[in-house]
Amino acid sequence: MKSTLLVSVCVWVSVATKLPNIVFVLTDDQDTELGGLTPIAKTRQLIGKEGITYQNMFVSSPLCCPSRSSIFSGKYVHNHRGLNNSIAGGCSDSSWQAREEPSAFPVLLKAAGYNTMFAGKYLNQYGGPKTGGVAHIPPGWDWWYGLVGNSKYYNYKVSVNGTEETHGHVYAKDYFTNYIHRKAVEFLQYQNKEGNPIFMMLSTPACHGPFTPADNYLTNFTGMVAPRGGNYNVTPHDKHWLIQQTIVPLPDDTVASEDKTFVNRWRTLLSVDDMVENVYNMLKQKDMLDNTYIFFSSDNGFHLGQFGLPSDKRQLYEFDIRVPLMIRGPGIPAGQVSQENVMNIDLGPTFIDLANQQVPDSVDGQSLKATWTLESRQGAAFRDNVLVEHFGEHHDSISGCPQFAGQGMGNCNNHCVCEDSWNNTFSCVRSTRSPNVYKYCIVKETQDFVEVYELTGDRYEFDNMASSADPNLLRSLQDDLDQLTSCSGTACNLVKHST
Ligand SMILES: *[C@@H]1O[C@H](CO)[C@@H](O)[C@H](O)[C@H]1NC(C)=O
Ligand SMILES: *[C@@H]1O[C@H](CO)[C@@H](O)[C@H](O)[C@H]1NC(C)=O
Ligand SMILES: *[C@@H]1O[C@H](CO)[C@@H](O)[C@H](O)[C@H]1NC(C)=O
Ligand SMILES: *[C@@H]1O[C@H](CO)[C@@H](O)[C@H](O)[C@H]1NC(C)=O
Repeated sequence: MKSTLLVSVCVWVSVATKLPNIVFVLTDDQDTELGGLTPIAKTRQLIGKEGITYQNMFVSSPLCCPSRSSIFSGKYVHNHRGLNNSIAGGCSDSSWQAREEPSAFPVLLKAAGYNTMFAGKYLNQYGGPKTGGVAHIPPGWDWWYGLVGNSKYYNYKVSVNGTEETHGHVYAKDYFTNYIHRKAVEFLQYQNKEGNPIFMMLSTPACHGPFTPADNYLTNFTGMVAPRGGNYNVTPHDKHWLIQQTIVPLPDDTVASEDKTFVNRWRTLLSVDDMVENVYNMLKQKDMLDNTYIFFSSDNGFHLGQFGLPSDKRQLYEFDIRVPLMIRGPGIPAGQVSQENVMNIDLGPTFIDLANQQVPDSVDGQSLKATWTLESRQGAAFRDNVLVEHFGEHHDSISGCPQFAGQGMGNCNNHCVCEDSWNNTFSCVRSTRSPNVYKYCIVKETQDFVEVYELTGDRYEFDNMASSADPNLLRSLQDDLDQLTSCSGTACNLVKHST
């Protein structure tokens, strides 16, 4: 009796003193609404089925740099001020480096004793001459393989611990997802169960443009097409100006190019799936898996033909703001599916919590640990109001579409359909008010334009209720939006409508 007790005490002590390892796989532009999880069967099995899959995971902004800035800071866009993908908009700029990077989650993990490793795309403007060049290594990282600029598969530069490394177009050496994969293997070779806990972030170019598959996956999914149905190729009614400019029905060549993009996006994800499997197996071989959390998510969703929008993100609709989230690890019962409203701003606080550190008051998100078991949930909703903010981008000259020069338009392709504009600037509250779920958006056009949807009955966002809904409901949604767009810290998570 006595010895059993002693043994269990010792086991408890050794488990309690060893902080868990954390692996975070972040993909680029991977949707959930177009079937983006389908090609990664091994990841769904090893992380999702052996852990928890979230069906309501949202991003704070449907654009890479703002969303990634939210992931690193745990803050909404109005607080981290990384408004768009350019330096002028705060993407990886000197003010981000001075204000947010020093308190971002990697710094806290390092302080907690983690061996930290980053490989892949960081923020879109990272590594350029105006953002500190490759010598700038964001604080908190020990092993740093940071891609210069935006996602690429070949012909890229990486900052390797602050030194520039140039890559060409030889598949075996340069294919970027596989490069990240090899760096993960290399880092893991130096780690062991008894050593410091590890934090490894693998941030892949897949499945972002230019959608270049690996040589071994050039023919997979041949013959498949982008999903039809839902709001695919549907004329937008009562939507803000930019969306009304799309061409519906979609021209044949646009359809063909979307279908090609669809297939190539899935192909690029097969290389991510291989990386996840290999990392899992290595952790298992090293007897580290039982004390490791593996997170899998993406920075924003994507659309291919929805409401006639050819191929991009940046919109307020579900296809662009929903992303995958799966987590496996100690204390997470296998096979769970969660309906809680969770967000990219929750990832950092979760890592900090797992490292037994105090989440700073300035952080807007909250640790996801509370969603992992029935007991920890205690019947309370994790979040009822989700805030999404986007600051529409525009470019002075648009190649191939001279008619839009200086017009305030951005990302014009496919018969010059523009996917962004200065007035595609919006903030939305996505409010769960059981049994209803509303999305209420203010779009900053010449005058404010309001879009309101009830998503349980209208999941494809066909019917804008702005002029038909009960004025009391609209007022209440506006109040929640006002509160959120100026919130900071715990005030961003007041649960108002659900229990
Ligand atoms: C990068 O830095 C880490 C931490 O100092 C070191 O262990 C690793 O070997 C370095 N990697 C390269 C390729 O220099
Ligand atoms: C990809 O295609 C190859 C060749 O047809 C096939 O052998 C392989 O199983 C496919 N892989 C996946 C993950 O679908
Ligand atoms: C990004 O935001 C900044 C600040 O609002 C603005 O000056 C810049 O034009 C924006 N960039 C694009 C490409 O729209
Ligand atoms: C939106 O911006 C475009 C480009 O500047 C402009 O042509 C259009 O009139 C604007 N629409 C509204 C409703 O603000």
